[in-house]
Amino acid sequence: MRLGSWPTLYLFLLLLFAAEGKAQERSITLAASPVLQDTGFLKFLLPRFSLKHSIRVNVTLLQNDAVVAGGADVVLTSVRRPMYPGALEIVGSGKPALSGFEQTFYVLETGQRGGATIKHAARFSKWLLSETGQRMIGDYTVEDQRVFTAGAATDTQETEIVFNGDAAVGERLSLQHCGRCHVVSEKNRMNGLGSTPSFALLRTFIDWDRRFEAFFTLNPHPAFTQIDGITEPFDISHPSPISPLQLTLDDLGAILAYVAKLEPADLGAPIRHQ
Ligand code: HEC
Repeated sequence: MRLGSWPTLYLFLLLLFAAEGKAQERSITLAASPVLQDTGFLKFLLPRFSLKHSIRVNVTLLQNDAVVAGGADVVLTSVRRPMYPGALEIVGSGKPALSGFEQTFYVLETGQRGGATIKHAARFSKWLLSETGQRMIGDYTVEDQRVFTAGAATDTQETEIVFNGDAAVGERLSLQHCGRCHVVSEKNRMNGLGSTPSFALLRTFIDWDRRFEAFFTLNPHPAFTQIDGITEPFDISHPSPISPLQLTLDDLGAILAYVAKLEPADLGAPIRHQ
């Protein structure tokens, strides 16, 4: 071998090792609720997982807990059955992994990217739900305060919630007021605005009741909604852009009683074409 070819061989070996190293780099993408990042919790948790299993975890944050950005292998969010935009595809139900901030966070493998990441994602959720992972959750403190509690146990506290309002009145009020934008039921199926989530869809959220109870604080409603004795009058400089929606707390109680009875949309069913 001529001396001149040594650098070539060296380069070749270097490339070979580099390729080898690349093939062995195992990583998954985790889509998580922002609060898990903001509290510093993921920075605490993920390196511990990576050290143990040699799987790196890239994090993407969910803009809206209800909607999962594509391309994640595993999801950690307060929505039990997250949805993919466009595809309306449900990948299954998450398992309760931890709770905090009055929410339960569910871990869910998406199987989206296929290949080895499915295995790695499964390892992540298994680890998180294991005794080790669950203990780790309780170990995380900020200024000596525990931030999250292990979730597996809290699921049993999920009791049936009872609403005492008059569901029949609630149906009428929902159709009259909310039905301007939302598909409330079959009765106004053709009248809702396409971009507005139907009540059946909202009903699939594990925390649907909290969202309905507080709907007047959630966009876009504050701009046009008044709850007697609760909301401030509209700012004179910002009058309601549409005919205002006015309700009493009893009305809202009736709406909650009605929505409680609604069947959540079966997002797992294949989309039917007419
Ligand atoms: C003028 C149209 C309009 C009316 C009237 C309206 N909504 Fe909505 N609502 C929306 C839109 C649009 C969204 C979706 C907002 C988003 O995705 O950010 C929404 C979302 C919601 C949500 C989910 C909010 C969240 O952030 O999770 C609830 C709950 C809700 N509406 C309840 C109601 C109820 C109850 C009524 C009637 C009392 C009502 N809405 C009336 C337009 C409307």
